[in-house]
Amino acid sequence: MNRISSRAPGKIILFGEHAVVYQYPAIAVPVTQVYTEVTIEENIEEGIFLYAPAISIATQYDLLPAENHLVAAINEVKSFSGMSQLPAMKISITSTIPVASGLGSGAAVSVALMRSLFSYLGKEVSDQEISNMAFQVEKIHHGTPSGIDNTVIAFERSVFFIKGQPIEFADIIEPFTIIIADSGIKSPTINTVMDVRKRWQENPVPYNAIFSDIGAIVQDARESLRTGNLENLGILMNTNHSLLQRLDVSCEALDCLVGAALDSGAMGAKLSGGGRGGNMIAIAQPENADRVSASLYRAGAKNTVITTIYPA
Ligand code: PMV
Repeated sequence: MNRISSRAPGKIILFGEHAVVYQYPAIAVPVTQVYTEVTIEENIEEGIFLYAPAISIATQYDLLPAENHLVAAINEVKSFSGMSQLPAMKISITSTIPVASGLGSGAAVSVALMRSLFSYLGKEVSDQEISNMAFQVEKIHHGTPSGIDNTVIAFERSVFFIKGQPIEFADIIEPFTIIIADSGIKSPTINTVMDVRKRWQENPVPYNAIFSDIGAIVQDARESLRTGNLENLGILMNTNHSLLQRLDVSCEALDCLVGAALDSGAMGAKLSGGGRGGNMIAIAQPENADRVSASLYRAGAKNTVITTIYPA
């Protein structure tokens, strides 16, 4: 029996969220400890059966609306392949990436689903093509996404990303340790992105200045990754977090986690992703990572992941 599986990792934004929507650069890295896995096998009955227990889906593709994330991803594959109908199949989706928390769960589902579908259909596609298709799906749910999630997840590499520009990978010279902590607060990215846009439209001058300051931090961080200056990366994370606070996308829980990370010896910390919930990150010496993680739990984190970012 024909059976295909594909995985896509989570991701975390190191620097530059929100400003990246306005053409400033951002740096993001894949996080392989969490992932979405899609398995496709023959369906002895007619049609496409979708089974995604985590989001309470166990139904026929035909019965779901076109704006459903999974349906949109399948439709991208159909139109790319020029196929009006796909063969009968059963698609099972499992994920260890928490939803709406800044780890790229939506893009990971799209990427893993599309990869497994193309593979099941025996068609070759490039990472760039997968990324472009996943971007179309992101637009349904995120409004005006920058495209950073689909890019880092489809390429599975650290990226220095500028919206609409050809992909550049981030040059990392020395491994470093990141602790990711989930505030447990679900915060859909579309809400914070729309809110920031509204404020920017009402008051462009100060917001442009904040975006520009974030852009400068990202350039500096790129250089620090290139030279292995981890201490400076920590300082830049703290400054980036202050600027995100000024954009009003932090919240009490995230500020408390950032404080707890710094108090327990992290070199720097910031919220990551859309904000007002979701995840924060801290950079620490590897020998301090467990201490920082324990302190984050005490400060209310619902989960932490310690990950090493390797040279790429
Ligand atoms: O919440 P996440 O991880 O999907 O990240 C959102 C990042 C933003 O810059 C706020 C939006 C975007 O599309 O880049």
